Amino acid sequence: MVNAYSQNTQNTSMTTFKALVANEIDGQFGTSITELSLDQLPDHDVLVRVDYSTLNYKDGLAVSGKSKICKRYPMVCGIDLAGEIVESASSEWSVGDKVLVNGYGLSENHWGGYSEYQRLKPEWLVRVPDSLTTLDTMAIGTAGYTAMLCVLAVQEHGVKPADGPVLVTGASGGVGSFAITLLTKLGYEVVAVTGSESEHAWLKSIGASSIMAREEFSRPSMPMEAEQWPAVIDSVGGQTLACVISQTRYNGVVAACGLAGGFDLPATVMPFILRNVRLQGVDSVNAPIERRQVAWKALGDMITAKDLEPLYEIASLEDVPELAAQIMAGTLSKRRVIKIG
Ligand SMILES: NC(=O)c1ccc[n+]([C@@H]2O[C@H](COP(=O)([O-])OP(=O)(O)OC[C@H]3O[C@@H](n4cnc5c(N)ncnc54)[C@H](OP(=O)(O)O)[C@@H]3O)[C@@H](O)[C@H]2O)c1
Repeated sequence: MVNAYSQNTQNTSMTTFKALVANEIDGQFGTSITELSLDQLPDHDVLVRVDYSTLNYKDGLAVSGKSKICKRYPMVCGIDLAGEIVESASSEWSVGDKVLVNGYGLSENHWGGYSEYQRLKPEWLVRVPDSLTTLDTMAIGTAGYTAMLCVLAVQEHGVKPADGPVLVTGASGGVGSFAITLLTKLGYEVVAVTGSESEHAWLKSIGASSIMAREEFSRPSMPMEAEQWPAVIDSVGGQTLACVISQTRYNGVVAACGLAGGFDLPATVMPFILRNVRLQGVDSVNAPIERRQVAWKALGDMITAKDLEPLYEIASLEDVPELAAQIMAGTLSKRRVIKIG
C-alpha cells in the first residue's frame, strides 16, 4: 500500500479533517485515511459538512482497486453523501440546508463522500426530504435510490400489484433488498432470487413472499421459457438477466440496473419481438435532477426510520477498506452506512 496523498500541498486553512483517499504512485494503487484542509478541496460553490456516506458495490470496486473506478488521483472515494451546508456561494442553497448527493461522478471524476467536508456543485444537490434525516437518506443510500428508480420504471410501464408477483434478483444486496421493501409497501407480491441461504428468513421479514435459488437463473436459458413475471428488477446482469428476460410475460418489463453477476447478456431478440417485452435500463449516476427529485420525494413519502432499521448497520471510515474487500468477496450481508462527521 502507498501513502495515498502526497504531502507537497501547503495547508493554508486552520480546519483539518479526515478523508479516505485513493492514490496511485509508481503504478501502485493504495488508500489511506488522510488529514486534509479546506483549501485542498475542489473549487465548487457549496461546502458541505458530511454526516454520512454509504458503502456500495461500486465503492468496493474503487477502494479495493479491483476496477478503475477513480479516473484520476488523488481521489476522495465515496459515491454518495448527506450532510449540512456550511458555506454557499449559490443563490439556491443556504447555510444550514440539509442535502444529499448520489453519483454525478463522485469517486470517479470528482471528490466524494468519504470526507468530513466536501465542496460540491449546487446542481448536484437534492434537498433531504422533510420526513427524513441525513442518516435516513444514507440508510436508503444510492442502493435505495436506484431501487426506487427501478420501481418507478415498473410502475410507469403500467404493471399493477394485481398483475402478479414481481421477481427481484440479487435480493440480499443493497438494491435488491430495497426493491423488495419498496414493492412490498406498494402492495406488490415479491419473489426474491438469492444465492445466500442464510438470508432467507431476513428476506421474508422484509416482504418476500417466496424465495428462489440463484442457480435456477444462472444456468443457460432457452430463448423463451414459460411466461411468469409481469415485471423483474435485476441487479445481477449476465446469464441471470438473459434468463429472466426469457421468462417475462407478454408486455412485461425488466428493469436492469446492475452487473453483480456479469456484464454480458447472452440473450436473443425473441422475447422482445414475440412477447413485446421491454428491457428498461436504469442509471442513477447521471439521472437528471428532476428524476432524482421524483425518486427522493417518493422515498420520503414511503419510507420511515423503522422501515430502514433491518436494512443497514453503521460503520466508520476506518472500517471501509475491510468492508470493501467483503463486498467484493460477496460476504457482506447487510448494507453499511458510513458515519463520517
Ligand atoms: N445503474 C446504477 O446506477 C446502479 C446503482 C447502484 C448499483 N448498481 C449496480 O447494481 C448491482 C448491485 O449493487 P448493490 O449495491 O446492490 O450490490 P451488493 O449489495 O453487493 O448486492 C449484489 C447482490 O447480487 C448478488 N450476487 C453477487 N454476486 C453474484 C453472482 N456472481 N451471481 C449472481 N448474483 C450475485 C448477491 O445477492 P444474493 O446473495 O441475494 O444472490 C449480492 O448481494 C451492482 O452491479 C452495482 O454496480 C447500479
